[in-house]
Amino acid sequence: MTRRFQIKPLPDILGAEITGLDLSTPLPEADFLEIRKALADRQVLVFRDQEKLTPDEQIAFSRRFGPLDIHIQHHFHLGGHPEILIVSNVIEDGKPIGLVDAGKYWHSDLSYMAEPSLGSLLHSKEWPANGGDTIFVNMVAAYEALPEGVRRRIDPLKAEHSYGARNRKQQALNGALRPGLTAEQEARVPPVIHPVVRLHPESGKRALFVSEGFTTRIVGLEEKESDELLAFLFHFSTSELFQYRHRWQPHDMVFWDNRQTLHLATGCPPELRRTLYRTTVRGEVPLAATAA
Ligand code: OGA
Ligand code: MN
Repeated sequence: MTRRFQIKPLPDILGAEITGLDLSTPLPEADFLEIRKALADRQVLVFRDQEKLTPDEQIAFSRRFGPLDIHIQHHFHLGGHPEILIVSNVIEDGKPIGLVDAGKYWHSDLSYMAEPSLGSLLHSKEWPANGGDTIFVNMVAAYEALPEGVRRRIDPLKAEHSYGARNRKQQALNGALRPGLTAEQEARVPPVIHPVVRLHPESGKRALFVSEGFTTRIVGLEEKESDELLAFLFHFSTSELFQYRHRWQPHDMVFWDNRQTLHLATGCPPELRRTLYRTTVRGEVPLAATAA
């Protein structure tokens, strides 16, 4: 059978470019399965030229992969579409129209939930002439590059992830643009514990699952030892060796696998407008690399 679209691995250690596919029409099952496999294999999929894609169509495509999460920052939901989170640096009438400081630290989306995200999709709506890149790292490659002794040491460990801790840090940096959480919102995101090394349910590979963004401590270690080990893992895993830098082109839609990557927003000059629509697919409770 001849395919109507192309999946081309990028030369980097992760990522693939998909061309000739219009996501605004429902995908046949075989194509969907092929895309799901490419996501497991390449971790980040760049769908070019999704000019026609509407919010409803983005939601429909995203839902093929699982239920969608509704983001805790409800001020920034797209009107009538709570499944879409607006990521934007645009200020209108003195108010941000979206989450301005989304992801300016290494993280995996929603790792602070008991069931973290399987993957997220960002559709580019306004793109700056320069800046605004998003960098991804391959956390399977990072894990595999660790010395064997470190891998053996961290395989059975667990770590805490916390949204409350991160939101307080962002508020300290960005007060006016970053709403605080109400007690009710904060109660919905209590700290959670996840394995430091998780098994990918489709590939069976091990991936590091800690990030500067949301991981606060390693369970069962003294504070100093926990801080040192985390600092080492944060630094090691985000090395250029494991990166793909996405330079947004008009109408790109990028889909990444949060179970085996981290990402970072590099930011763009404030006078240039940048807006993206995000949908977030819920995943499973992370599988530990070793039996508890
Ligand atoms: C996100 C995110 C990065 C970016 O939306 O989850 O981290 O470059 N965005 O906007
Ligand atoms: Mn993110």
